[in-house]
Amino acid sequence: MFSLIVAHDANYGIGLDNHLPWHLSEDLKQFKEHTIHKKILMGKTTFDGFKKPLPERHTVVACFKGEEGENSELVTYCTDLIQYLKDNENTDEEIVVCGGASIYKLCLPYCKKLYISLVEGEHKVDTYFPKYNPEDYTVASVTPFEGFKVIEYIKK
Ligand SMILES: NC(=O)c1ccc[n+]([C@@H]2O[C@H](COP(=O)([O-])OP(=O)(O)OC[C@H]3O[C@@H](n4cnc5c(N)ncnc54)[C@H](OP(=O)(O)O)[C@@H]3O)[C@@H](O)[C@H]2O)c1
Repeated sequence: MFSLIVAHDANYGIGLDNHLPWHLSEDLKQFKEHTIHKKILMGKTTFDGFKKPLPERHTVVACFKGEEGENSELVTYCTDLIQYLKDNENTDEEIVVCGGASIYKLCLPYCKKLYISLVEGEHKVDTYFPKYNPEDYTVASVTPFEGFKVIEYIKK
């Protein structure tokens, strides 16, 4: 099954110049907590932003050109994302969708759980999370932090 993790601001902004528009170290801890020892899925742009594969996770990198990189213990390249989503949407294993914008847009309908860090305020951004309807989800938990809160949604 797919879950999704994102930090977006009041206007659904998520990125600027291929970076996060804010620095919230507690949110980075939340990201680690929800992804550690799991399989994570991200687009090539977001993956390149990390400089190297994240440890203690297996990253599936969506890219159109399969020759971009070689599969390894830490990384698998996926050129047919839609097929990957169809093949894995009902598996027991949790695969966490980690962005960026183009990947969130494609994957959101397949995600049964959302970990949303709602960042306070409106930031300068050039990349957005797709609009979603909170009524399609049940709120499982809300946890406040300084500058943001984490809302865990389960799809109805
Ligand atoms: N706030 C957050 O929580 C958060 C999280 C993650 C990222 N971000 C931000 O999001 C921005 C990056 O988003 P982005 O949309 O530009 O890039 P992206 O989604 O990370 O990656 C785009 C790339 O993914 C590949 N791709 C896209 N659709 C595909 C498909 N259907 N099948 C196979 N491969 C596919 C393509 O790679 P190739 O062209 O190489 O083939 C495409 O260029 C950055 O600003 C980043 O900081 C924010």
